[in-house]
Amino acid sequence: MSADTNATPVLAARELTKHYEVAKGWGKPKARVNALNGVSFDLASGQTVAVVGESGCGKSTLARQVTLIERPSSGALLIDGQDIAAADTSQIKVARRKVQIVFQDPFGSLNPRKKVGTIIGEPLAINTTLSRAERREKVRWIMDRVGLRPEHAGRYPHMFSGGQRQRIAVARALTLQPKIVVADEPVSALDVSIQAQVLNLLMDLQDEFELAYLFISHDLSVVEHICDQVMVMYLGRAVEFGAKETVFAQPRHPYTQALMAATPHIDPEKRKRRIVLSGELPSPMSLPDGCAFHARCPYARDDCTTLRPELRLVDGREVACHHAENIDAPGRDSAR
Ligand SMILES: Nc1ncnc2c1ncn2[C@@H]1O[C@H](COP(=O)(O)OP(=O)(O)O)[C@@H](O)[C@H]1O
Ligand code: SF4
Ligand SMILES: [Mg+2]
Repeated sequence: MSADTNATPVLAARELTKHYEVAKGWGKPKARVNALNGVSFDLASGQTVAVVGESGCGKSTLARQVTLIERPSSGALLIDGQDIAAADTSQIKVARRKVQIVFQDPFGSLNPRKKVGTIIGEPLAINTTLSRAERREKVRWIMDRVGLRPEHAGRYPHMFSGGQRQRIAVARALTLQPKIVVADEPVSALDVSIQAQVLNLLMDLQDEFELAYLFISHDLSVVEHICDQVMVMYLGRAVEFGAKETVFAQPRHPYTQALMAATPHIDPEKRKRRIVLSGELPSPMSLPDGCAFHARCPYARDDCTTLRPELRLVDGREVACHHAENIDAPGRDSAR
């Protein structure tokens, strides 16, 4: 699904799946972590799809598949029309340049021993044949675009605040002029006042370069500012996916409702259904039968424990819930 159905998606994921094999100890069979269990979406130039959900639901795993850091266990990924599964090494190299990532931790993701100018210019040094002078010029240009001053190039990362470091990380991600930027919790480590500055910068850069963003966050109030579409994930699957306005105005999945109720900065009118999210996220090593959310869902009925709900169109967005039409009714627990 894409916000503008006429646009060719620059990124398309089809049933993307990633399982990890993990050792459980001597002599024991390996266990399978079902981190990502079939996620599909389209992303068009100039658009932002936000991915939200609790810690452990598979957001970073999705980011690693989309940025080609890892190979998916199954499913298809098309980057700028190129099917990655069918691509040879040189085509993958080209595709990699089109997708860049900005990580959450502006402290851990920048090499402390390198000067900022070197850090930002590194992708150019590795991936292009530009001369040193040409690279320097490009680095200065991109630094200006992200609000860094030329003299910052000669300084080290520790001399900068968290917000400034994220500007450096964004500059580095943009040097190769990617079409897609995956931002994995890019403002989660920053003070709220600084978050807005970095989000505004990302939005300005999106307009200027027609960037497509896959914007990952556990915080719905951050997502509300920046996205066109929102995908809510639970245990490696999308449970609700649609235009931001539609989903925020009236969430149809009980899990989306619970996330909204737990987000203090969301408009109280939109938080009126107070589902309290109780219990833990089940282990991705043993996915529950039926609906993965059933043990925590105030609306669960018998069929929820046996039959897995697929995404289907309800009220203008896709929802994976058997009872999405009826969840306005008071639930069995804390829904009021
Ligand atoms: N390399 C890995 N090996 C084994 N399990 C992993 C690996 N990476 C992630 N996981 C597990 O996959 C699940 C999803 O993790 P992750 O994608 O990091 O979630 P999120 O980013 O939403 O917090 C978690 O249970 C996590 O422990
Ligand atoms: S399918 Fe059932 S358990 Fe799952 S979210 Fe819907 S009502 Fe709740
Ligand atoms: Mg993560």
